This record gives sequence, structure tokens and C-alpha cells, in this order.
Amino acid sequence: MGEKKSAVRICVKQVTKTFAKKAVLQNLSFTVQPGEIFIIMGPSGTGKSVLLKLLSGLDQPTSGEIYINDLPLKQVKKSNRYVLGLVFQAGALFNSLSIFDNLALYFRERQICKEAEIEKRITHVLNLLGLQGIEKQMPSSLSGGMKKRVALARGLLMEPDVLLFDEPTSELDLLTASSIIELIGYVNRHLGITTVVSSHDILLAKTIGHHIGVLQNGTMDTIYTPETLFQSNNAFIKNFLNPRVNLEHPQFPSFLV
Ligand SMILES: Nc1ncnc2c1ncn2[C@@H]1O[C@H](COP(=O)(O)OP(=O)(O)OP(=O)(O)O)[C@@H](O)[C@H]1O
Ligand SMILES: [Mg+2]
Repeated sequence: MGEKKSAVRICVKQVTKTFAKKAVLQNLSFTVQPGEIFIIMGPSGTGKSVLLKLLSGLDQPTSGEIYINDLPLKQVKKSNRYVLGLVFQAGALFNSLSIFDNLALYFRERQICKEAEIEKRITHVLNLLGLQGIEKQMPSSLSGGMKKRVALARGLLMEPDVLLFDEPTSELDLLTASSIIELIGYVNRHLGITTVVSSHDILLAKTIGHHIGVLQNGTMDTIYTPETLFQSNNAFIKNFLNPRVNLEHPQFPSFLV
């Protein structure tokens, strides 16, 4: 990797996002400090992926603004100096290309550097993520956990200012999930890139989150640390972290029972 860049601060200010008059995010404000891991939690459908899309600039708020180091995100994006590492679901790899060619695509398309330099960078990142030797393999030959790590490798190769992860541990067994959590923590400690993760994963929030916001009714009332989150007396938070399974009175629609 090249020279280490200084980490950026993200400020979300009074952001509202509305779809067909329904506000998914409502007057939401929070700050992600430079170099930290910020976790967006919340039940399914509360707007985590919508918020990540806004942070990536792939979609715009209906009102309000997102700032990167005090400059509006849309302005920063236009400057072309702001690089975003998006690590979405594993499916984002091209199945007809080898792992090496998948990873080299970003450099080749932009003609950023020579083949020898591309090779050096790819080898370096694969080593960092414990994936050495898989360059010639095809995506179909990798497990779900390995694909997620390759997606992370691709994000890192772009030398991003911000890393965004949408549900990095979903669909994985607990052991593989914990290795992904370790990797995100490791990469953050070593490279200090400002990182935002959307996740339901309580283990992830507990172990690598510096700050945690829980989306409810389109907003985050409190920004927690892992300690304050797990000590919270808020009924919604307590139920979200430790839900009851009620077999006697399940919440089925009446036509099913
Ligand atoms: N492009 C869109 N058009 C209309 N509604 C949308 C659009 N994108 C998202 N929504 C709505 O916004 C709400 C939040 O969706 P989102 O995908 O952000 O939830 P989530 O918190 O990521 O859920 P999950 O944990 O299941 O991934 C949902 O009600 C969804 O239907
Ligand atoms: Mg989602």
C-alpha cells in the first residue's frame, strides 16, 4: 500500500430520507470520528442499508447534508480525491474472472499503475488478509467467508478514505463470522481507516465497535459505546439485544393458527 492518508471525519446533519412520502430516516444527526469503527444497528427494515447508500453518495438525502471533514459529500465526491471502499455482499465478484483479475480490475480500468506494481499490491493485501496463494482460483471455488474476505481485499486495494460494510457477517456461521470481525478490527487498527459497519451482529458491536447507533423510527436517540449499550435500561434496546422467544403466544397472524 502507498503512504498512509490521514483519517476523515464524517458528519451526518439533520438527514431525512423519504420514499413515496414515507420517511425512512428522519432528522438524523451523528458524527463518525476519524479512524474509528462506527456501527449502525437496528432491526430489519429500519434503514441501515439506506443510510449506508447515503454515506456512499450512491443516493442523496431528501433533506439535510453529509459532510466529510466539513465539506459536503457531494462536493468532495466531485473532486475525485475522495476514495470510498464499499464492501457489500460477496456477490459483487465477477464469476468469469480469477481472483487476481477481479482484484486487478480497479487498477487496469483506471490505468493507475503497471502490472508489476498491481501484482505487488495484490500480493500484499492477500497476505494481510490471510488469503495468500488464491490468485488463480475462480470465485466459484471459494467459500462464503473467503468471498467476503476477497471483497474486503478489493476495498482495501483502493486505499480508501472510508470503508463501508453492509452486514459483513450475515449468512456466516459464528466461527467464520468471528474471523471476519477480527479482520475488520485488525485492518482498522493497522490502517486507521474511518469505518462504518451496518450490522445486527451483537458480537461485532461488542468486540470492535468504538461507537454504536441504534436506528429506531428513523433516528438514533443516543450514541453508545459497547459498555453503555449493553448496560442500557432502554426497553427497546434491551429487547433488541436480548429478545424473548415466546412459544406459548407466538406473534403469528391469525390466519396461520
Ligand atoms: N429505493 C427504495 N424505494 C422505496 N423504498 C425503499 C427503497 N430502499 C429502501 N426502501 C425502504 O426503506 C426501508 C429501510 O430499508 P433498508 O434496506 O435500509 O433496511 P435495513 O435496515 O437495511 O434492513 P435489513 O436489516 O433487513 O437489511 C424499508 O421499508 C424499505 O422498503
Ligand atoms: Mg440492509
